[in-house]
Amino acid sequence: MTYLTLPQPGRRIQVGDSKTILQAALDAGIAYPHSCRSGRCGACKSRLISGHVELGKHSPFALSEQERADGFILACRAVPSDDVAVEWLDETFDAEPALAQDAKVVAIDRMTHDILAIRLALADRAAFPFAAGQYLSLTMPGALARNYSMANRPDEELVELHVRAVPGGLTSGRIHASLATGDKVRIEGPSGSAYLREAHAGPIVAIAGGSGLAPIKSIVETALHADMTQPIRVYFGARAERDLYLVEHFRALEQTFANLTFIPVLSETASDGWRSGFVSDALAGDHHDLAGAKAYVAGPPAMVDAAMAVLGGLGVPPDDIDADVFFTPEESNDNAA
Ligand SMILES: Cc1cc2nc3c(=O)[nH]c(=O)nc-3n(C[C@H](O)[C@H](O)[C@H](O)COP(=O)(O)OP(=O)(O)OC[C@H]3O[C@@H](n4cnc5c(N)ncnc54)[C@H](O)[C@@H]3O)c2cc1C
Ligand code: FES
Repeated sequence: MTYLTLPQPGRRIQVGDSKTILQAALDAGIAYPHSCRSGRCGACKSRLISGHVELGKHSPFALSEQERADGFILACRAVPSDDVAVEWLDETFDAEPALAQDAKVVAIDRMTHDILAIRLALADRAAFPFAAGQYLSLTMPGALARNYSMANRPDEELVELHVRAVPGGLTSGRIHASLATGDKVRIEGPSGSAYLREAHAGPIVAIAGGSGLAPIKSIVETALHADMTQPIRVYFGARAERDLYLVEHFRALEQTFANLTFIPVLSETASDGWRSGFVSDALAGDHHDLAGAKAYVAGPPAMVDAAMAVLGGLGVPPDDIDADVFFTPEESNDNAA
């Protein structure tokens, strides 16, 4: 048994065998900054103040060789070898613990053949103040809890989620098969550190894949309504035309807000004038240098990895990239609803 000291919340906790620092902190009810829990996004990047850790597999965009050498770790990949003291790097992180409450499904709209938009009325909306880009954990009866990102602006009353039916997916399959208007669900949150940084004055580049458009919609609409006037470019990657949604919505926003550009890119078939190829390649083809930009990325793991690589090559430092990787962390299958 080892001990973990966290100066920021002022806590010292025990860490069970083979547990990561992130998991130990979350189990102890400590709100630790994180997103992907898989060493891909860098949201849990931390400074090892003392002690030693075993660091598991991670992407070089989440933690570079140099950062490792300089004593930084990823809390979601770090298992303490002895007593450790650690501080997270995200100074803007507001360490409020996530709260649970009931919510009622008030509308379900089909956006594509495999994406539903679900609107929830929360029992206590005031107790759920979120930042654009954050997510909640949703539990419906008989299904395991899963994370879904808010697609609406934080000042809007109803909470909007976009849920893609993952082939063979337990919870998304159940949501698509049986969730109905009027149903009660349980939500917990908000969570996540890939949220809009309103103090950043440079250009914004947002890259979404599939239902990754949900947090990007929230971030972009919040930025526009906050009178952020810098250029905002949204790349929306989908496989084929039938996977696109909200295109007219974003086209209408482009008419109102001159600083917004919306760029759908189709990877499988490109007909009728759509751009074709991988969305990360479109980003690379459009830019030579994105230094000074803030990037928000959300979608499936392969797309996020490719986008992070391109952004790094275009001069966006890891600290200016906020990414949500849409997948199911292994430990989410441990607690049946
Ligand atoms: C921070 C965060 C935010 C998220 N926000 C959203 C959101 O707004 N909308 C949304 O639709 N999803 C979102 N997700 C993904 C979501 O939480 C679930 O992982 C997803 O719905 C699959 O759950 P499942 O129970 O249906 O599939 P599972 O039963 O968990 O998985 C079934 C199989 O599908 C694979 N798989 C899991 N996820 C994916 C995927 N995305 N693409 C391809 N294969 C996959 C698994 O490896 C497994 O083999 C988010 C995930 C995270 C971590
Ligand atoms: S890299 Fe640790 S939460 Fe994403």
